[in-house]
Amino acid sequence: MLKGMFKDSILALEFTNFCNCSCIMCTQSHNKIIKGFMPETILDSIINNIVSEDLYFDKLITFGLGESTLHPQFAQFMEKLFIMNSTGRYFGGIDLHTNGIDLTDEIIDILIKYGKQLSTLSFSIDAVYAETYYKIRRNKNFDKMVNNIKKIFKKRIDKNPRINLQFIIMDENSEEAYDFMKFWGDFLQDNKIPYQINYDWYPAMNKDTIFFKRLNPVKHEELVKYESLHHFVVKKLGILKEDNNNNGENEKERAVESHEWRGEKRRMPCSGPFKYVTVCWNGDVTVCCIDTMRDLKIGNLSENTLYNLWSNDKCHNYRLAHIKGDLTSMPKCQHCNNLDSPEISKKEITDYLKKYGYENYLDYLKEF
Ligand SMILES: C[S@@+](CC[C@H](N)C(=O)[O-])C[C@H]1O[C@@H](n2cnc3c(N)ncnc32)[C@H](O)[C@@H]1O
Ligand code: SF4
Ligand code: SF4
Repeated sequence: MLKGMFKDSILALEFTNFCNCSCIMCTQSHNKIIKGFMPETILDSIINNIVSEDLYFDKLITFGLGESTLHPQFAQFMEKLFIMNSTGRYFGGIDLHTNGIDLTDEIIDILIKYGKQLSTLSFSIDAVYAETYYKIRRNKNFDKMVNNIKKIFKKRIDKNPRINLQFIIMDENSEEAYDFMKFWGDFLQDNKIPYQINYDWYPAMNKDTIFFKRLNPVKHEELVKYESLHHFVVKKLGILKEDNNNNGENEKERAVESHEWRGEKRRMPCSGPFKYVTVCWNGDVTVCCIDTMRDLKIGNLSENTLYNLWSNDKCHNYRLAHIKGDLTSMPKCQHCNNLDSPEISKKEITDYLKKYGYENYLDYLKEF
């Protein structure tokens, strides 16, 4: 947030938590929280605060747990953010994930107009047959979604924005992973579009990408099972470069209780409270991208500015709890594998503790 303080900092803006799908694997479908659309005044207050404090995030992501393109002002909101960041001063990149079902021509045109600034446009697809699509996403508009994606590919200029075609491997679709790879691979080849296929976040996705993503299961105890399924499927597809994946062992490490010790070491703190600023549609600010129920809320933008909330005692206490490994005040974190949070290094934690006068916590660093 402050220039140079942390690597890979993220600002997530949940334009809305409404969705036109009810995907079986998504926590969005399993919660009862009040839904709504972010008012323009909230977006403006965030923009004003970022500009006046001269804040910087490596990434802006314009989605949360919901489908942002359903916001009636989606195109205008995106345009405001693109214009504000035209020189790259505030965000290193801007990413959008969408299910691609309800893209109007207005939305498509804005995404293409600012395509160079949109670092990733990721389509969550997860199926190649309409029946499977319905089983997973519980939406019948498979053909409409496919046509929207093809339309963007054909309309975009100089291959901008870069596009991800995402397939999360789960029981319901694992049998059709090959057909998915072939369907989109053929489409890209027929249109002479260079692409890569990834089964992890690395190597960097510099070209359009067919991405076979791991499932982050709703039940955390199933993490190892789905890591193994992912490993099995990508191996069968022939895209696993070398068999260096230990078939779930890493996931066992990740799926521990956060305060738990393994031999002499404790799990690293989650970077969420340090690097992942999440603003919900109603102005609630939380330290976590998967905090559907706002359990880790640090305040609301009606009470204070984004920068001041991110520097308040509650937020510092969350960071210190992760460093100390005492997560009694953060039960949500105790069972979390923080699969999608960026990494945080010991150096970053040390710099943070010194900057804010918490040197008495430095000893905890020896534990992980
Ligand atoms: C929650 S969605 C919100 C954006 C949009 N509605 C979409 O589906 O792309 C953000 C991302 O999380 C992914 N996602 C949802 N549930 C997941 C899970 N259980 N494991 C891994 N990724 C998941 C989606 O595929 C998408 O890429
Ligand atoms: S993955 Fe996206 S489309 Fe599916 S329910 Fe979640 S928010 Fe909606
Ligand atoms: S440990 Fe999990 S629940 Fe806690 S902040 Fe990190 S990602 Fe969120």
